[in-house]
Amino acid sequence: MREIVLKEEAQPSESVIYCGEGAFEEKLPAAVEKYPQKFIFTDTTVWNLWGERIKEVLGDIPVFAMPAGEEHKTEETLFALLKAMAAAQLHRTSCLIMIGGGVVGDVGGLAAALYMRGIACFQVPTTLLAQVDSSVGGKTAIDFYGVKNLVGAFNQPRAVFADPCFFETLPPREVRCGIGEMVKHGALSADLFEKLTARSSELAALSVPVDLIADNIAFKASVVAQDAKESGLRKSLNLGHTTAHALELALKTKSHGECVLLGTIFEAEMAKCEADCDREYLNELIALCKEVLGGIPALPNASEWTKLALLDKKNTAKDAVVITAPLRRGTYRLISLPFEDYAKRAEEIENKLC
Ligand SMILES: NC(=O)c1ccc[n+]([C@@H]2O[C@H](COP(=O)([O-])OP(=O)(O)OC[C@H]3O[C@@H](n4cnc5c(N)ncnc54)[C@H](O)[C@@H]3O)[C@@H](O)[C@H]2O)c1
Ligand SMILES: [Zn+2]
Repeated sequence: MREIVLKEEAQPSESVIYCGEGAFEEKLPAAVEKYPQKFIFTDTTVWNLWGERIKEVLGDIPVFAMPAGEEHKTEETLFALLKAMAAAQLHRTSCLIMIGGGVVGDVGGLAAALYMRGIACFQVPTTLLAQVDSSVGGKTAIDFYGVKNLVGAFNQPRAVFADPCFFETLPPREVRCGIGEMVKHGALSADLFEKLTARSSELAALSVPVDLIADNIAFKASVVAQDAKESGLRKSLNLGHTTAHALELALKTKSHGECVLLGTIFEAEMAKCEADCDREYLNELIALCKEVLGGIPALPNASEWTKLALLDKKNTAKDAVVITAPLRRGTYRLISLPFEDYAKRAEEIENKLC
């Protein structure tokens, strides 16, 4: 079992992330024992699969299960949860235990920040994406007014319990989704890149070694520790995401993580135009993305999806697209491309890939 401590620069408190077998069954009950009232927040899919096991581990405590899926990451779900917490008469001294994927973590973390101006929360991430990415760093949110993550707060859980036992029931698509974010971390850290390339065939077979999960958590925790409120370094975690978000909107059938892998391929190709890039490394990164993707899927014509990249939050000028591009091992750079150039390069890359 690895214990990763997340200590933010300007914060007195710290939070621990337990990663490994036993995190859920052994560490969680001990951590929440002192709270007089506990409340579980989960989704219906996780509850149907894991409810009995959760009851064995935590005992008979109140539960609220939201319908599963991003489309329910809404104010209705947030307020339904807050109502259930009020009905259970939770106090300042109570704690909320979020058990599920990134959606449950994001909505539950926000509810815990709002209820009585803040109660303790603990997170048990049950998807690979939630373990290596969303449960680390205290960002919480709901989608609002048609905009993803528009309303939220920073609220670090007291502790996170990342246990591989949950992967027993995780569909392959969700595993690949998490691998996409692991590769993104690899494009930001030379050390992780070595580890991921050395294990690429395991990853391509969707078998994810626990030590690699812990390494990814430790990497994200180190980025968050230096820049909890995303004023600089934490923005690097958007690598590949400008193109990924455009592809996600256009493709619909591909998961977020698969689009991150595709986005990283496009943006690594675009980075080859930078004078100080390492082409050999960029080719290795592209090969890794292709291997874990299991090939390039059919893509709509670039002219259809590239304009969606203009919607990205990182863009600072009206007709320019900003990408966080990989450059050399462990090095990235924000590059602003006039939209015409971005679209033209994307089209050339797409013709070469497909
Ligand atoms: N807070 C952050 O820093 C951060 C970072 C990245 C992503 N996110 C957010 O995370 C969300 C995506 O997270 P996600 O990919 O975990 O999605 P998710 O929570 O929707 O989970 C994906 C699906 O897997 C199911 N599931 C969960 N655990 C399972 C298990 N063990 N076995 C079988 N099925 C299981 C869920 O019910 C759901 O249907 C997005 O809303 C995104 O905005 C947040
Ligand atoms: Zn992502």
